[in-house]
Amino acid sequence: MGNFQVIDHPLIQHKLTIIRDKNTGTKYFREVVNEIARLLAYEVSREMPLQDIEIETPLVKTVQKQLAGKKVVIVPILRAGLGMVDGMLDLIPAAKVGHVGMYRDHDTMEPVEYFIKMPSDLSERQLLVVDPMLATGGSAVAAIDALKKRGASNIKFVCLVAAPEGVKVLQDAHPDVDIYTASLDEKLNENGYILPGLGDAGDRLFGTL
Ligand code: PRP
Ligand code: URA
Repeated sequence: MGNFQVIDHPLIQHKLTIIRDKNTGTKYFREVVNEIARLLAYEVSREMPLQDIEIETPLVKTVQKQLAGKKVVIVPILRAGLGMVDGMLDLIPAAKVGHVGMYRDHDTMEPVEYFIKMPSDLSERQLLVVDPMLATGGSAVAAIDALKKRGASNIKFVCLVAAPEGVKVLQDAHPDVDIYTASLDEKLNENGYILPGLGDAGDRLFGTL
């Protein structure tokens, strides 16, 4: 089973409270989502492999570390995942960005795929799939299905708020995928919204309420 981690650093908890508050407007919401994404990127990158490299300081030759391993692709699930991309890129600026368009049908709650554009050679890359919300888990599972179908095998999923129901669905469908979230909330309501949650992340990010 992949790793499941709640990254509950005090700064992250403080910032989550800001975006949960219904009185937080679009501009501030967007800024704080990116700030949290930046802090999550720091934790998610903690186990990135390193390799030795010989360099010369002004004084001596020395063997030091540099990042090795697979090249990173950040993959936002549209729309709301876009809100996390800049924050992640702040820490991993050389990452490529692939896009998966997926929306949840309001009546059936089933995910509908409408767009995919990814870099080539996905089997060679470390994918960080980002979406603020893991609710029923349908969108994340469908997005990761689509990425695996295109050759991806090394995938981590990063979100801000997860429901226990969604975590279980994603773990059952993709046990190889590590899941990182800033919060594990209580449950889903009857419309598939996370409680206490933060409402509709895409609408709050883009001002389409
Ligand atoms: C939201 C959210 C996730 C999905 C989570 O997207 O950003 O992608 O719902 O729900 P699930 O786990 O039950 O699938 P939404 O469908 O509202 O689309 P949007 O990002 O375009 O607003
Ligand atoms: N999608 C959202 O944006 N919010 C939720 O609470 C559930 C799904």
